[in-house]
Amino acid sequence: MRILAIESSCDETAMAILSGHNGDFHLEKSIITSQIEIHKKYGGVVPEVASRQHLQNIFPLLDNILGKNKLDKIDYIAVTSGPGLVSSLLLGVTVAKSLAFTTKKPLIAINHIEGHIYSNWLSNEFLRKSNNNLFPVLSLVVSGGHTELAIMKGHGDYELIGQTLDDAVGEAFDKVAKLMNLDYPGGPIVSRLSEMGDKEAFDLPRPMMNSKDYNFSFAGIKTAVLYSLEKLKKVNQKDVANLCASFQSSVVEVITKKTIKAAQEYRVNAILLSGGVSANNALKNELAKESKKINKKFFYPELKYTGDNAAMIATAAYYNLSNNKALIFEGPEVANLQVDSNWQLIKK
Ligand code: KG4
Ligand code: ZN
Repeated sequence: MRILAIESSCDETAMAILSGHNGDFHLEKSIITSQIEIHKKYGGVVPEVASRQHLQNIFPLLDNILGKNKLDKIDYIAVTSGPGLVSSLLLGVTVAKSLAFTTKKPLIAINHIEGHIYSNWLSNEFLRKSNNNLFPVLSLVVSGGHTELAIMKGHGDYELIGQTLDDAVGEAFDKVAKLMNLDYPGGPIVSRLSEMGDKEAFDLPRPMMNSKDYNFSFAGIKTAVLYSLEKLKKVNQKDVANLCASFQSSVVEVITKKTIKAAQEYRVNAILLSGGVSANNALKNELAKESKKINKKFFYPELKYTGDNAAMIATAAYYNLSNNKALIFEGPEVANLQVDSNWQLIKK
């Protein structure tokens, strides 16, 4: 089976082709057009600008991914239909619907968060080879819009055990960067500056670290960064690096502590990190160290699959199809697929 996947939920227009046979898959091609440079000057993603850019990028990208064979050898079309920005999602979904409708190929709706989770299968051969033997596993998704801890009992089978009550982790990184007049997206910059800073320099809170549930709250740490900045009369480069390091250390400590506790309580066999913030080395190192201590395997995606991409969407479609969990629209039903900007993959 060959799957063409389209992703346009935020500020990346992406497409991929993946082929599956004999219980395994092969990623043939994955391309991304990023809009980061355009949104940088606004200090964040502007939905109206993002959708216009998707409109500009989507057909050249389609031409590039399909090459001269066009759709002849594609069996399924997969598309991210939520969660994300409505006007961005609409571009990918409309193009996917049109392709499916005119070529009479089945259309598969994919949840963006599930795509992030499956970036682990895309990146780790061990996971692919383990078939179903590794379940249950604990999934930690940390992105610009989500922070979710879920138990995955099998392919496509999730139980949400915790989430953020305010800002997502990536959002907190971006907002803290903005407070210090750093560029967008702030996550990678804060992470890089942290390496030059002293994480003990500022005593920042660890909200909800010892709460009995598995929920998170990051807004308080962000506010504490603001107060620390206000107390400093003049902010020099060293202060900025120290604040970045202190902030990152606080976030990493809270996430790691709760994740490890959940892994023990739910007796999972492995911890799977994903989402844009899974590019963060401090978080990866801490989770790797602590999972080892409790004898749990730890997986994370290759750097190129941490941010939004269509290869992870194709991988999720492949596993959904292989496990009869795919949300398929065929024939005239294709018209029924709607975008759902708040699509909750995992219901409590
Ligand atoms: O998954 P993603 O590409 O988009 C969403 O689905 O939200 O995640 C983007 C988020 C941004 O907030 C960005 O600042 C953050 O991931 N991020 C990082 C790092 N790289 C990207 N945060 C912390 N450290 C990083 N190295
Ligand atoms: Zn994402």
